[in-house]
Amino acid sequence: MLTPVLSRHWDDADSFTIDGYSRHGGYTALPKALAMDPDALIQLVKDSGLRGRGGAGFPTGMKWGFIPQGPDGQGAKPHYLVVNADESEPGTCKDTPFMMANPHALVEGVAIASYAIRASFAVIYVRGEIVHVIRRLQQAVADAYTAGHLGKDIGGTGYDLDVVVHAGSGAYICGEETALLDSLEGFRGQPRLRPPFPATHGLYASPTVVNNVESIASVPSIVLGGAAWFQGMGTEKSKGYTLYSLSGHVSNPGQFEAPLGITLRQLLDLSGGMREGHELKFWTPGGSSTPLLTAEHLDVPLDYEGVAAAGSMLGTKALQCFDETTCVVRAVLRWTEFYAHESCGKCTPCREGTYWMVQVLQRLEAGTGTEEDIATLLDTCDNIFGRSFCALGDGATSPIVSGVQYFRDEFVAHITGKGCPFDPVASTVFAGALA
Ligand SMILES: Cc1cc2nc3c(=O)[nH]c(=O)nc-3n(C[C@H](O)[C@H](O)[C@H](O)COP(=O)(O)O)c2cc1C
Ligand code: SF4
Repeated sequence: MLTPVLSRHWDDADSFTIDGYSRHGGYTALPKALAMDPDALIQLVKDSGLRGRGGAGFPTGMKWGFIPQGPDGQGAKPHYLVVNADESEPGTCKDTPFMMANPHALVEGVAIASYAIRASFAVIYVRGEIVHVIRRLQQAVADAYTAGHLGKDIGGTGYDLDVVVHAGSGAYICGEETALLDSLEGFRGQPRLRPPFPATHGLYASPTVVNNVESIASVPSIVLGGAAWFQGMGTEKSKGYTLYSLSGHVSNPGQFEAPLGITLRQLLDLSGGMREGHELKFWTPGGSSTPLLTAEHLDVPLDYEGVAAAGSMLGTKALQCFDETTCVVRAVLRWTEFYAHESCGKCTPCREGTYWMVQVLQRLEAGTGTEEDIATLLDTCDNIFGRSFCALGDGATSPIVSGVQYFRDEFVAHITGKGCPFDPVASTVFAGALA
């Protein structure tokens, strides 16, 4: 049931080295790709059905196809590939371990994708705090240059590519692709108005593809395995394999690479389940920006359509699992504090709304809230969702709205019990508040 591709050799002591990667067929997709016409490569990725693994699930080949091509196949302006390795969403933890264990799959993917979109300069924008990953990527890029997989006249084909590893600026918003581009250009990282889109006006106002680490790293396997092989995994509209990150109160947290459409129940069965003696209470399918689900949803297929039908989003497949010992009000408060801290301040609904939601949630969690506070919270969410400049604002409402939807009784218990029923001291005083 597991289909390790990107994670297949993670157990090797040298999986992160160029020798370790090459020993298992690494860098054999690149010459194959360079022998193809760039348009044929774009078509291959379109045919594979690969969808962006950064959260939104946009078809990768289609995104590449949006890059305008001039009569010479280049257009008037240079083209750029930017890899989004900013990974900062609470719970999302796939790109970081992947880049530590298998950075050359990303570097090979960068070379292939850049060739396909006719770019001769690519950037890997890495979350600034993960210095160990930045160093590992820098080493991988340096080794790829030395081996002739990057640089001038790659493999004698006449194709030139330079790759830069750029340390990010320490803000969650810099993962939003247009804020990332502003940050890369040296400005404060804030989202840009769209249109125009990065496909025509991206880095330095030139045609740019921004893709997630896992999207790009999946490309060498598609070049080697073919579109039909990739299509053979997954569900009707969500093709291929992907990394699911299990975390929280599970007995065996980590990365599990499986076809799209696997369920959380299957993943828990494969990985040893929840921690001993405890039960699943709620979980996020794709990080804290995706609405919470509950034990009722254990059999939801974890693909884009299945999770949407259950009222949430697949997002980054960050499966944070919480057991019955967790206070949902406290968890929602923590996430909301994160969004308030990370709100870039560009638009009023998100800047003001996240601030006020923290105040209200703090009251509720401390047991000094009123029933009206729950209505105020939902009303504030209503004023943020769909009215914010970027998806950070929408995401900030997800834990609150879904938390109240599934656990209203628990919010009310904090009010009637004048404290948190999960607090070890308060729970003896307010025992039964949740009954
Ligand atoms: C606040 C915010 C943070 C984001 N952070 C990331 C991130 O860290 N990594 C990522 O790949 N995409 C992130 N995204 C999504 C990107 O804007 C973009 O959709 C993605 O990089 C596209 O790559 P893909 O098509 O390969 O999925 C974020 C979006 C928002 C709104
Ligand atoms: S929604 Fe939040 S993060 Fe996005 S632009 Fe508005 S203030 Fe900035």
